[in-house]
Amino acid sequence: MSSAPAFTLSGRDLLGIEGLTASEILSLLDLAEEFVELNRQIEKKRSTLRGRTQINLFFEASTRTQSSFEIAGKRLGADVMNMSVGSSSVKKGETLVDTAITLNAMHPDILVVRHHASGAVALLARKVDCCVVNAGDGAHEHPTQALLDALTIRRNKGRIEGLTVAICGDVLHSRVARSNILLLSTLGARVRVVAPSTLLPAGIDQFGVEVYRSMEAGLEGADIVMMLRLQRERMSGSFVPSVREYFHYFGLDEAKLRIAAKDALVMHPGPMNRGVEIDSAVADSPRSLIREQVEMGVAVRMAVLDTLARKLPNA
Ligand code: NCD
Repeated sequence: MSSAPAFTLSGRDLLGIEGLTASEILSLLDLAEEFVELNRQIEKKRSTLRGRTQINLFFEASTRTQSSFEIAGKRLGADVMNMSVGSSSVKKGETLVDTAITLNAMHPDILVVRHHASGAVALLARKVDCCVVNAGDGAHEHPTQALLDALTIRRNKGRIEGLTVAICGDVLHSRVARSNILLLSTLGARVRVVAPSTLLPAGIDQFGVEVYRSMEAGLEGADIVMMLRLQRERMSGSFVPSVREYFHYFGLDEAKLRIAAKDALVMHPGPMNRGVEIDSAVADSPRSLIREQVEMGVAVRMAVLDTLARKLPNA
């Protein structure tokens, strides 16, 4: 591991893919590759974060992202504390900024934050002295998800540049879609979004993506089919007629997958709604990268934490 180039990010925090250069993204992916190897060994520990305190501050429920950040921090030697804030002070009326100031007084080195409001993580980052990692803010960004998706694609396809990636489903409510569009475009992929009009954000055309309103057209020749969860908890009205109809038109099953390239691979950030946006047979097929995405998640988060720690005082 010591041969890794000691590159640093230009900022103190990782708040989004927006603002990262192609070379910063590639350096993170290269470093993550080394952690993939480490994580497959019996001895998985490093000491880069020894003595550091990492707090995972989650204002929104999460299983895989929170546990992934916890494992990543612990493998690098940090003391990791999990706080699910939805169930504590916020319920007693404390504001986001007060929570930030309280935690800051305990001298954490890294805060990993998930919040239901877009922009909340950036606001919090301005109030604390430590480095902040965005673990998902509203429908805005989820940078480590996009990084782990890119790593998964690169390991399976050997490249990202020139690939056609179709991001399908609830684009409107998806921070995963937004971060992936930014990252994949920066690395030279052709990005499509495929969704019913009601699940496309206004102004999506300005993102530099190709927009499709049917799976038949949008999957044609795609190298990667990335499915998104139908985020019903974020919907304040009726966006789809019924789950059955949604699955019929936009759910990925074997018949629709045949429209994509012969060697197309399937991804999903999880948690999956089987039978809503993806058929079980496809999710569990050899063309599915869904489990590998989870593995890459730990490696990518180790790469992010390791890189940010290089800029901490006394590093
Ligand atoms: C995603 C999220 O929370 O943004 N999931 C995740 O990070 N594992 C996607 C989703 O919730 O659908």
